[in-house]
Amino acid sequence: MASVPTVPATLIPGDGIGPEIVESVTAVLDALGAPFEWDRQAAGMAGIEAAGDPLPQATLDSIARTGLALKGPLTTPSGGGYRSVNVRLREAFKLYANVRPARTIVPGGRYENIDLVLMRENLEGYYVAHEHFVGIGDDPHAVAISQGITTREGCRRIIRYAFDYAVKHGRKKVTLVHKANILKAITGLFLEEGRAIAREYEGRVAVDERIVDACAMQLVMNPWQFDVIVTTNLFGDILSDQIAGLVGGLGMAPGANIGENTAIFEAVHGSAPDIAGKGIANPLALMLAAGLMLDHVGCQDLSARLRAAIDETLNVDGIRTGDLGGKASTRELTAALIKRIG
Ligand code: NAI
Ligand code: MG
Repeated sequence: MASVPTVPATLIPGDGIGPEIVESVTAVLDALGAPFEWDRQAAGMAGIEAAGDPLPQATLDSIARTGLALKGPLTTPSGGGYRSVNVRLREAFKLYANVRPARTIVPGGRYENIDLVLMRENLEGYYVAHEHFVGIGDDPHAVAISQGITTREGCRRIIRYAFDYAVKHGRKKVTLVHKANILKAITGLFLEEGRAIAREYEGRVAVDERIVDACAMQLVMNPWQFDVIVTTNLFGDILSDQIAGLVGGLGMAPGANIGENTAIFEAVHGSAPDIAGKGIANPLALMLAAGLMLDHVGCQDLSARLRAAIDETLNVDGIRTGDLGGKASTRELTAALIKRIG
């Protein structure tokens, strides 16, 4: 039984492989004695079916009440004019920090011993989508114009989050990633604030700077030089997928969206319609996200046990799903994890 009081949390099974991997994750969390008391809510295609909206009001109300959610992947309906549910959730709950830790769990890939964390600013930059076309002659799309936004406050929030995270997790260095040599305003402000905040952490956390293109190259040449990376929205989007590739791809990449009062945990991958319903999806990205969620509510003992069980199941028992070169079904992997926890 859990030694901590129950923690209300919203559970969104999501679309495609979502319900399969959510079933696996909640079964493993139960075995672990995790404190979450789930409030199940619909979103994505399931939300459209249940309430005519991919992000029903009941789901928003639930997250507003719990301040905590575990979310399966959502299919973004193309056509029909729905905005991305993920972007709506980030905006609704001001989830300014996207935290994506990458750690090698399965040895024998292209890289060994990767252990780094990418912090992506989640609300500003070019993702505010102040975009439009200007027509010339009979071409209405002759010119495309986009305006990005960086605010001093937004930079401070995410950079401070990165340094505080480093202190809390015993990490040694934060690398500020920017393009201030060219985009002197929109990323120059980020670098300026980064340098200022770094001074407050002098002696506790080292600071480092990289221009984003050089950073991308160095992540391939020598990823071990990085510890915590903090960057703006678009650069973070790109680098976080690159970093997922260093540790074996999407099946192993968890993410957390963090705001002042709310945190939403999810896998980096999508709803994988090509394998949905086949019972072969890898639940570990979402399970690692649940581990981050346990850390978030102060259950580090449980998340450590969860990560150890994942390590042992993959590497000692050799039980892996197809994307990791194994033959196990989602349910077989789940049973093996529960046995390890047992
Ligand atoms: P995807 O991540 O769903 O799939 C890409 C490839 O990786 C597929 O071959 C899939 O089978 C495989 N894959 C993904 N997760 C896996 C897992 N856990 N185990 C084994 N294999 C896995 O990306 P795709 O196909 O581009 O997107 C599908 C849908 O998901 C789209 O509607 C997209 O908008 C949505 N999406 C949602 C996200 C979210 O809710 N956070 C994030 C990314 C995409
Ligand atoms: Mg992305």
